[in-house]
Amino acid sequence: MANSTSAALKRITTHSLQEMKQRGEKISMLTAYDYSMAKILDAAGIDMVLVGDSASNVMAGHETTLPITLDQMIYHASAVVRAVKRALVVVDIPFGSYQGNSAEALRSAIRIMKESGGHAVKMEGGAEIKESVMRVLSAGVPVMGHLGLTPQSIYKFGTYTVRAQEKAEAEKLIEDAKLLEACGCFALVVEKIPAALAKKVASSLTIPVIGIGAGVEVDGQVLVMHDMLGITQEFKPRFLRRYADLQQLMTDAFKKYISDVKTKDFPTSKESY
Ligand code: KIV
Repeated sequence: MANSTSAALKRITTHSLQEMKQRGEKISMLTAYDYSMAKILDAAGIDMVLVGDSASNVMAGHETTLPITLDQMIYHASAVVRAVKRALVVVDIPFGSYQGNSAEALRSAIRIMKESGGHAVKMEGGAEIKESVMRVLSAGVPVMGHLGLTPQSIYKFGTYTVRAQEKAEAEKLIEDAKLLEACGCFALVVEKIPAALAKKVASSLTIPVIGIGAGVEVDGQVLVMHDMLGITQEFKPRFLRRYADLQQLMTDAFKKYISDVKTKDFPTSKESY
């Protein structure tokens, strides 16, 4: 008989996410890139973990998400998968590994699934990547779409400002969202778009729509872990709520350790053999 512990650890699937949308239960999602953080996050009860290509920024210190490679994404994703017992793990296919070539998209998605053990992939874009999305889906790999501010296209946008404020871009975004749903995507991320537009997208689709900087009237929320924990301090968009000030906490701990070493306060005899 299933006890309460095993029931609590019942895996989140694309199907359970769909049911959450149907019953109006909001879906929680955060990024993670390594084993230790993913373990804490999963144990806290997160529904979805995104191994985002934001690893390029917060783990590797690049200015954009463009430099991260498929091998590097697989490295991060496999560490996360080893830690996660309950959440659905979604892995970003990095820039240059799927656009404009559906055969390459399929190869990249299969490598991610086989080598990392991730449960789904995320791809940025709408009609322009339709073939790649369909090809990946045809192999049985669940795909999450990503519209609005798509950071892999930052050099096309030229700015990280709110997207789809103009009618034409908003209409294209709605069309793209419907197209991705029709293709068979299991969920969609909408990033940095007006709340009213995000609400319209979420109510027009049957698949879950997860927002970041897209207001509250969507089916769930995602943030970058390092931003919401206050490890990064320089990134301050309006949509970001900080749930901790880990930069300060860590700085204090590091300073205390350095001081204890210098003053021979650490280690004591109790901490020695
Ligand atoms: O890479 C990432 O962290 C993302 C989120 C911002 C949605 O794509």
